[in-house]
Amino acid sequence: MISDPITTSDLSPANAPFVPRLMLATDLDGTFLAGSPAHRQQLYRLVDRHPEIRLTFVTGRGLEAVMPLLSDPSLPRPDYVICDVGGTVVDGRTLQPIQPLQTRIDRRWPGEHAVATEMAGFRGLVRQDVPQERRCSYFCEPDALADVRADIEATAKRLGCSVLYSADRYLDILPPDTDKGRTLAALAEHLELPRERVLVAGDTLNDLSMYTSGFQGVCVGESEPALVTATDQLSNVFHAQAPGCGGILEAIAHFDLLDADDPHLRGTGEPTTGQSDLVMVYHRLPYEEYIEDGERKRRRPTSPNGIIPSLLGFFGGGQTGSWVAWSVDDPKLGTFETRTPVDPEAYPDLTVARVPLSKTEVDAFYKRFSKEAFWPMLHTFWERARFSEDDWAIYLRVNRKFAEATAAEAAPGATVWLHDYNLWMVPAYLRELRPDVRIAFFHHTYFPSADVFNVVPWRREILGSLLQCDYIGFHIPRQVENFVDVVRGAMPTEVLEREGCAPRFLT
Ligand code: GLC
Repeated sequence: MISDPITTSDLSPANAPFVPRLMLATDLDGTFLAGSPAHRQQLYRLVDRHPEIRLTFVTGRGLEAVMPLLSDPSLPRPDYVICDVGGTVVDGRTLQPIQPLQTRIDRRWPGEHAVATEMAGFRGLVRQDVPQERRCSYFCEPDALADVRADIEATAKRLGCSVLYSADRYLDILPPDTDKGRTLAALAEHLELPRERVLVAGDTLNDLSMYTSGFQGVCVGESEPALVTATDQLSNVFHAQAPGCGGILEAIAHFDLLDADDPHLRGTGEPTTGQSDLVMVYHRLPYEEYIEDGERKRRRPTSPNGIIPSLLGFFGGGQTGSWVAWSVDDPKLGTFETRTPVDPEAYPDLTVARVPLSKTEVDAFYKRFSKEAFWPMLHTFWERARFSEDDWAIYLRVNRKFAEATAAEAAPGATVWLHDYNLWMVPAYLRELRPDVRIAFFHHTYFPSADVFNVVPWRREILGSLLQCDYIGFHIPRQVENFVDVVRGAMPTEVLEREGCAPRFLT
């Protein structure tokens, strides 16, 4: 979730003795990343917006495999990340190790080479092909394990390492006395965080150590049966019905961790929806506004813009639609009309939803930022691009306004069609407000190669936002390749399908 840069809080113990009311320490796959879309949205909002909640990811993934989640705008950013099944502990913002905790773990680890060499002799162990540090992780079928378990444990013991088997397939060799629970306990102590302020959440046996380290916790619905059995008798563990985020929400109520009337707890309920099946979101109005004698007037667009007539062509066939665009909100011109018809004769079912922007916002968002930062970069004149954090903050604010106006126009399940780089961050906000809509995005400009695009300081946020779309369109295959290349450089990517196109577009 994209917090305003100004409101981002800092929880490093050195400069903030702040003790949160609740630290949610949660596993990711099957837990925090699981559950119904409505539950996920409700929990993510709660964690993101509640000033007294802090978040720690506690996962079996390696740090590299957690990183894509940190730029996923639909997820709250964690304050701490414990990864590698407890082998790694870092600050969620800087990704720097938390010392002295990390050094203590490092000292205990005999090293990848020593462990992998000793384990190489066991049949049935297949090394996992995922990033891993301070651990060696394997796949192992339960049947194959039965034969070698005792020997593996004896070997690990010789190395001074711990063995963890979970979900009937993962075998982790970990540094001695290291697991999710013990690393979390060390972190809580380091932060002087009382254990009763922590809620742990998980779904497989590699989470067991969190419940046995003295934290109250929840096994979310659909947990691995072996975890449910192992925690059955523990009075500090709640077994939730709903899977994933729904289970965590149940646990917050069960343990009374927030006041029942806490306004942040209220579900988002049904989002407010509009009537339009097709919402066109282009920053320009489909007509031109000008001021004459202190009054707002309209005329046909004078600039040679081919996009407007093309997009207008989608309306007029009885399709109820909206067009979202900005307009200057100048108090001197009287009340600002938000919704107005475009042309009752030519497009009887098309309404314009005007997003009110102040003159300062127009100057920063449109005249300065879009034209001086993104436009030169997109056209590969990256050395002329000027990036300013202050303008980016305004760009985010304006994109949020567009998302809010769009959310209010779209009928349930509507198609929202966004246009151009001025609105790159709209999908991130819109997906959060309206998980039900189909989002398409079309680029009317060139999309450059990765080495050019990567000069943008906020490239990860932009990619995270664009990946909330159901469709992303470009002019020609070359630009699609460029985009895919950029994505590939930022996160693990798999190409599932390729489509052909007319040969004339290839060269
Ligand atoms: C996660 C990790 C995997 C590990 C497993 C169990 O799935 O990606 O490497 O073996 O957790 O801890």
